[in-house]
Amino acid sequence: MSGRKKLFGGLTADIGIDLGTCNTLIYVRGRGVVSSEPSVVAVERGTKKVVAVGQDAKRMLWKTPGDIIAIRPLRDGVIADLETTEKMIRYFISKVLSKRWIIKPRMVMGVPSCITEVERRAVEEAAYKSGAREVKIIEESLAAAIGAQIPIFEPAGHMIVDIGGGTTEISVISLGGMVVTNAIRLGGDAFDLAIIKHVRTVHNLIIGEQTAEQLKMKIGNASPEKTIDKMEIKGTDAITGLPRRLEIDSVEVREALQEPINAVVEEVKRTLGQTPPELAADIVERGIVMTGGGSILKGLPKLLSKETGVPVILAEDPLLCVAIGAGQYYDFAKGHNDNRALYDALSG
Ligand SMILES: Nc1ncnc2c1ncn2[C@@H]1O[C@H](COP(=O)(O)OP(=O)(O)OP(=O)(O)O)[C@@H](O)[C@H]1O
Ligand SMILES: [Mg+2]
Repeated sequence: MSGRKKLFGGLTADIGIDLGTCNTLIYVRGRGVVSSEPSVVAVERGTKKVVAVGQDAKRMLWKTPGDIIAIRPLRDGVIADLETTEKMIRYFISKVLSKRWIIKPRMVMGVPSCITEVERRAVEEAAYKSGAREVKIIEESLAAAIGAQIPIFEPAGHMIVDIGGGTTEISVISLGGMVVTNAIRLGGDAFDLAIIKHVRTVHNLIIGEQTAEQLKMKIGNASPEKTIDKMEIKGTDAITGLPRRLEIDSVEVREALQEPINAVVEEVKRTLGQTPPELAADIVERGIVMTGGGSILKGLPKLLSKETGVPVILAEDPLLCVAIGAGQYYDFAKGHNDNRALYDALSG
């Protein structure tokens, strides 16, 4: 490392941010993922003054007193509340920004591909206001692929399926660019809602989103398992209005999840159908890589593989891939540019 690099290495940092609908993660180069908190903000009704952000705000989400409201500003993959999103970004960044860094950091943000140009600019602005000297906004899929250690700058096709809370993004990447990309506004949140709907319809029991998420994480699965798991839940009887307990098993949760899971599988098939044949051949050989919290659902990679006939691999640390990839973006791009220059020089 040159003296100059060594000197400045200690004074500045590259930061990667995964601005997710469920969780916002921050990766600092050389330190790894330093912050992972729910994308939730609690504000005072009327004045909109921020009372709590992240984990503290999430605890208030379903139990807020009248004058405080807890919001998820990025619900369903879109920025539902721009002003609050900005405040949230600034809060998370200021928490990890070190006063020791004399030179302002460069920031790379992974955002859902379906956000609008106006939203993109607002997010960028928020990052600048939080103290960035340079901000780059990249697609979540691209960041996820880098974070999953996929050699995206190779002249070969790679498919990445990122199932987040609010969105599922399916992309085919080659030579560092997106060849095909499809996004649907459906992810882990929709899985929870499907469970709520099922329990209400079949058992006349009203349950909250947190209970549904616990059912999904603890006993949910996408393809049959050898053993059947059970879990006791509590909710409100839809007819009597009284609290009631109920035991649910994993077969039932799988049935409840069928509709949103099918939607994901169909979108993957559709994307494979849009992929140029040479790249499709690469994907068959290398397999589809899954990232995002939604892909941790038991049996989902197995089901997707069965339905598509293509091997499916769950990335290491699926929840961290976008943040890691955003944080390592500059290193990746730099390596690529160096290779490109060498390639150009050699091919004369
Ligand atoms: N073990 C698990 N099993 C099933 N689902 C899980 C598990 N762990 C997390 N999830 C789900 O993953 C989702 C959150 O994933 P993630 O943090 O990747 O989303 P996000 O990046 O915030 O959202 P998006 O990418 O849509 O903006 C939630 O719906 C959560 O319930
Ligand atoms: Mg995400």
